[in-house]
Amino acid sequence: MKIAIVLGTRPEIIKMVSVIDEIIFRGHELILIHTGQHYDHEMSDQFFEELELPTPNYNIGVGSSSHGKQTGKMMEGIEEILLKETPDILLVQGDTNAVLAGALVASKLHIPVGHVEAGLRSYDITMPEEVNRKSADVCSKYYFVPTEKSAINLSIEGISRKDIFITGNTVVDACFRNLEIAKKHIDDMENSSTSPTSSTSPSSPNSSTSPTSPNSSNYFNSPNDSTSLDSSSTSSSFSNEILNLLKLDNIITLTMHRAENVDNKKRLTDIINAIAELKDFNIVFPIHPRTKKTMENFGLYEDLAKLDNVHLIKPLGYLNFLLLMSKSLIIVTDSGGLQEEAITLDIPSLTLRYNTERPETVDMGGNILVGADKDFIVESANKILNDKSFYDKMSLAPNPYGDGTAGKQILDIIEDSYEKGECRLDS
Ligand code: UD1
Ligand code: UDP
Repeated sequence: MKIAIVLGTRPEIIKMVSVIDEIIFRGHELILIHTGQHYDHEMSDQFFEELELPTPNYNIGVGSSSHGKQTGKMMEGIEEILLKETPDILLVQGDTNAVLAGALVASKLHIPVGHVEAGLRSYDITMPEEVNRKSADVCSKYYFVPTEKSAINLSIEGISRKDIFITGNTVVDACFRNLEIAKKHIDDMENSSTSPTSSTSPSSPNSSTSPTSPNSSNYFNSPNDSTSLDSSSTSSSFSNEILNLLKLDNIITLTMHRAENVDNKKRLTDIINAIAELKDFNIVFPIHPRTKKTMENFGLYEDLAKLDNVHLIKPLGYLNFLLLMSKSLIIVTDSGGLQEEAITLDIPSLTLRYNTERPETVDMGGNILVGADKDFIVESANKILNDKSFYDKMSLAPNPYGDGTAGKQILDIIEDSYEKGECRLDS
């Protein structure tokens, strides 16, 4: 069977790893199409290297631009490739522009589309991701949904239940497998006499001897420091800086990149002001390139960078990032993937949004939607720090996203369908 995959951003790469591994393991032909939406080493290549993924057969190289232009370029490129390769099925993942472009083009060529992580709904049509995921669900033939709730969302929209498969989320596959690998690396390093961390002791947030005070471990010492932006220095290996950060107490892992937060000066300022008030935490903030740019443009970067307990670093490779999350007291984020990973890793999360297409995390008690409300963000983080029973309740929330076998289940379903002759251009 010939299976094509379109992906283009960091979360799609991570969440398709188990599916790609399974395709290769079962001996199917894989056509991997990278749209090139994410192109910085830290946002794309480092994941291919670290997660041992095959080099994409095609990279359309769309780069950054407006939604229409970017999606249009993707569609043109994907169409050309699909006409040449004529795969039996095209898989897309999630809700990025690649999902919209891939699903639309393939469905018009009558190539069956499998949507991995289908059925999520925020019911906020101002989000580009909501438009993308809804449109892709109109074009799909196979709906690989993470939860019963996503299945119900699709049923309400008239999708036949026989086309909906509850597999769990592939992020759990990625999380379980790679956290084990990351921990083993650390154990090996600690057992070796050349451990780079042996001379460093743990520190408290406000300690004057903190190994992470400004100008020691911050990759981004200053927004204009050209060395800090050197993409050739890999961040996927376990560097001293990361290992030292992992030794800190009361870590908050912070990420954000949603347009509605980072492109809006008022909201971004409110969030940054909240972060600045969280003095009892060590805040580790691997900055998405979009966020770095807007923080600089709004003049917010320097103020945050100068705080001793805030560690602004480059986007991390997956192994480092999993370790960081797993050592955190709280995850503060507007990321979709992090809401899922937080509950998978038993870490309470505060989501910097007023709605979520991952309501299961809130229903289970592991996630609070704090929006961009400064007081609510500060109050919630402090409650998790100071109220043990509250922390316990949040961190013990059950994981609604499956058992880490989503990739296998997806391939079982596709193979079964192919054998029945349904997974063909002429079916
Ligand atoms: C995209 C997805 C979003 C996903 C996120 C994952 C869409 C509509 N958005 O958002 O759903 O959650 O990826 O991270 O598909 N940039 C760089 N280097 C890069 C990539 C981007 O500097 O390698 C900068 C550019 O200035 C660009 C900006 O980031 O204009 C935004 O990038 P873009 O890919 O348009 O959107 P994301 O915010 O990354
Ligand atoms: N991630 C990572 N390094 C980082 C930040 C995030 O490996 O520095 C991973 C994270 O574990 C998750 C994915 O990237 O699997 C989430 O990507 P992002 O937040 O960019 O997108 P979203 O999930 O919101 O679409």
